Amino acid sequence: MPRYSDELINEIFSQNDIVDYVSQYVKLRKNGRDYTGLCPFHKEKSPSFHVNQEKQLFHCFGCGAGGNLVQFVMRSEGLDFLEALKLMADRAGIILPDEDNIADDKAHQKKKQIYSMNKAAARLYFETLTSHDDGKVGLEYFKERKISPSTIRKYGLGYAPDNFDYLKKHMNKLGFSDDELLEAGLCVTKNGKIYDKFRGRVMFPIIDLRGNVIAFGGRIINAVEKDGYKPPKYLNSAETPVFNKGKNLFSLNLAKKDSAAQCILCEGYMDVISVYQAGVTNIVATLGTALTENQAKLLMKYSGEIILCYDSDEAGQAATKRGIEIITSVGGRCRVMKLKGAKDPDEYIKSNGIELFRKAIKDALPSTEYLLGTLKSQYDTDNPDGKIMFIHKAAEVLAGVKSAVEIDAYVKKIADETEISKEAIYAELKKIRSNDKSGSNIIRQVKMPSKEKNAALDSKIANAEKRLLGLVIDSKKAYQIVKEEFSPPDYSEGPIRKLAEMIYNCYETGENIEPPLIINKFDEKDADFVSQIFCNIETYKDEDNTLRKLVNSIKIERLSIEIEKATNENDVIKVKELLTLRLELEGNK
Ligand code: GTP
Ligand code: MN
Repeated sequence: MPRYSDELINEIFSQNDIVDYVSQYVKLRKNGRDYTGLCPFHKEKSPSFHVNQEKQLFHCFGCGAGGNLVQFVMRSEGLDFLEALKLMADRAGIILPDEDNIADDKAHQKKKQIYSMNKAAARLYFETLTSHDDGKVGLEYFKERKISPSTIRKYGLGYAPDNFDYLKKHMNKLGFSDDELLEAGLCVTKNGKIYDKFRGRVMFPIIDLRGNVIAFGGRIINAVEKDGYKPPKYLNSAETPVFNKGKNLFSLNLAKKDSAAQCILCEGYMDVISVYQAGVTNIVATLGTALTENQAKLLMKYSGEIILCYDSDEAGQAATKRGIEIITSVGGRCRVMKLKGAKDPDEYIKSNGIELFRKAIKDALPSTEYLLGTLKSQYDTDNPDGKIMFIHKAAEVLAGVKSAVEIDAYVKKIADETEISKEAIYAELKKIRSNDKSGSNIIRQVKMPSKEKNAALDSKIANAEKRLLGLVIDSKKAYQIVKEEFSPPDYSEGPIRKLAEMIYNCYETGENIEPPLIINKFDEKDADFVSQIFCNIETYKDEDNTLRKLVNSIKIERLSIEIEKATNENDVIKVKELLTLRLELEGNK
């Protein structure tokens, strides 16, 4: 983060009005406390993009993007923080001091250096693969997997020989120190010795939208167990100043321009490459982890619809379900592809050809239909019990669908298939929806597997904390009511606690709460989250009850998680104790 003083930054913010600036991009209309318009960061038909003039923040309730003016400029112009700040300073006729510029540039310089190291490494791996004897095994491997020389060039694929200092030696010669190699994640240390991270692996450079090599994935080609240790099939770069696994997608640089209508999302690098080679170029993959909200949002910037194409095994299907949740939670649309008789897209096109793959894209099921179909296959709907369970679960899925027309179409379909009346299905849906509102869906969730249940409770807690802190930010009175009952350490660890500390501190010291400045203290990853809290649309209307209820519900839900844990551990005494505590709190409601 920059070294400019808060005063200077505040000056820049106060000389630029966010509504004024954003209006150049977005047609804004005054709407209650906020200005609203169509979000410039994702496709939408009805406005969910809010600009709050008083707080000088923006937030999109559709895609979750948010932040202060400088963060808006960063996003809309594709600049980094300093560049955007400079633009705003120029606009206000403020000249940024030079020395600061130099100090500020440090982080920027570091990133630039890692980019150039990664580029040098990628070049070495590529040349080794394509023209050294050391790389022959790698080339042989790709040949066996039907990857052509032109695809190797397109993706800059490479080979890292099974040697402890192949890359290190080369990079040292280019003038990069061991410390720098460690920082870039290209080397690792063990027992005080430093050596190449990637050995005996074919290499997949991960390239960002500007063409920088930000990381590598490496696949082992000869997995031999050494001293009882079997190396992992894939190894990915660790996070570095230029690489965040959850924020980038493999091959988006190549897929971006062909993805306007839709983009396929799959699991593996090899899947992407082999499908791309066969001529379907709108395909990307996550980087060895589950899909994140950030990745979904990123993809939605370039694509109207995401086609999930995960492996057909159980893990892949579970990831599909989770993927649908993530994508819909950030306002995206998705469909699910089915690959009959193959483990993954690579295998599928090898045995069926690309034309059948294209057909499978066309036939991909809308996410709701996919979820309902999966449920149907899980229950025996020929017997009454199975039917009831299926209807209940199906109604849960439908409760998440926004469009009434869509719901009606599915209700009709389910009614036809199960011979249960539409009215009865609607009644079930209504019950679930009203449970969701009153918060008593805790009871419903008891039937869920505990991992899912805890995740649901966690997100309930997170939501309640967000609402609570949003109200506290908006009113000193709310702060005074809450502060004794719920202090910063009571918030969940992470950005929300950090924000609570800053807000509570402002109240304690009598400082003004300056949202744009506060939000600057968070990295880009958390800025969306923080602005969402600042831009809450709930207003505090002296209803002390609301606050107490929120605090109470957080405590109750935390207890529920503990109870679940103690139950799993068969700790009967503890369960009893916790249940008593929870009952007490529930009595206070
Ligand atoms: P091939 O076996 O070469 O066809 O690879 P694949 O792309 O089909 O890989 P797979 O479906 O096994 O895994 C999908 C993705 O998960 C890979 O592209 C990696 O990003 C990641 N992955 C797989 N195995 C490992 C592992 O052992 N460790 C880590 N960190 N990631 C893995
Ligand atoms: Mn595969």
